[in-house]
Amino acid sequence: MQHADQVAYIERLLEMARANLRDDGPGLTHTAVDTYFSQDRYDREVATLFRRYPVVVAFSAQLRKAGDFVTSTDTGQPILVARGTDGKLRAFLNVCRHRTATLETRPCGANKRAFVCPYHGWSYDLTGKLVGITDGAWFGDLDRGTHGLKQLAVAERCGMVWVVPTALEDGQSADFDIDSFLGTVKPDLQSWDMATWEVHSTTPIRPRMNWKLVIDTFLELYHFRYLHGASVAPLFLDNITTHERRDRHSRFAVAKKTLLEIDKEPRGTWRLLDHAVMLYNLFPNTVLAYTADHCGVFTSYPISPDEALINVSILVDPTVRATKPESYWDTNRDLILAALAEDFAVGATIQSNFRSGANKVQTFGKFEKALGWYHAEIDAALT
Ligand code: FES
Ligand SMILES: [Fe+2]
Repeated sequence: MQHADQVAYIERLLEMARANLRDDGPGLTHTAVDTYFSQDRYDREVATLFRRYPVVVAFSAQLRKAGDFVTSTDTGQPILVARGTDGKLRAFLNVCRHRTATLETRPCGANKRAFVCPYHGWSYDLTGKLVGITDGAWFGDLDRGTHGLKQLAVAERCGMVWVVPTALEDGQSADFDIDSFLGTVKPDLQSWDMATWEVHSTTPIRPRMNWKLVIDTFLELYHFRYLHGASVAPLFLDNITTHERRDRHSRFAVAKKTLLEIDKEPRGTWRLLDHAVMLYNLFPNTVLAYTADHCGVFTSYPISPDEALINVSILVDPTVRATKPESYWDTNRDLILAALAEDFAVGATIQSNFRSGANKVQTFGKFEKALGWYHAEIDAALT
């Protein structure tokens, strides 16, 4: 984010804090509660959002060198991402073309030259080409050229790796226009570029919540004073946050208490992340939280209508990481996980109460407008 934009954000947050204003939308918004538990709705979300849209499945830090690979089943599809000797990143269905066994069973690794199926030993190179069939003569004229791994569209930007989890037809390009997809959040992600950052940790959590309800917990600060009063709320001003819709995504800054002291600093040195956390809701299922010294990446995947998997990753610039003891980063992560435990405890009550008949809709206040935007974008994608 350009310095002038950062100063504009800071001034807007300062004005809100000093005048006790909120970043209101024009009115209340709603989403129907059955969108969080209907099996039909869930099936449509998986078929569309988790098969046809790009979803974050890995980080550049895990895939720097030729032979580095990552596997993932988080979207419900078996995915293998690997860096080739040509430096190109490729994604495949992690499924052997002989009799459908999982090809690579480890979550990640390095120095791979070929993936060898554990069942009968068929092997594939880093481009997905079938290069070896055990006792191949007995397979006669099987066309090896059409038995390579099924490819998926993949893109890498700003330290993250997106995959569209539906197999491409043979010959179809694996490139897709991630820049258009990111749209007006792309310049921000580039300015906070994580391409060279390391993954400090990834913590998977299985909340008893619909995957969208997990995202909802990130999109407003209204709950901080009550729910997080004993954990992270003391770091932040009460509900001082700005929201902007950016294509199908959104971005918002969350003011820390230190913002009120910023006048002591020369204006030319103001840095937004010193006094605020900058969050991005990346459609459909990822939230990024950039702070002064790390980024939290939160990706929510559907398990069932009433269960989600969220991967909580902490990414850090290695030069910044080296300036602090490892215990500092661990404490940071633990603070985030403690706050999320508070969110997900209350979230589980919401999920189990959806069917009670108490509410037909979730009501989003004027300053909870980002939730309204988010659900409107999901609805639009499904129609
Ligand atoms: S299923 Fe992979 S080699 Fe047979
Ligand atoms: Fe929270």
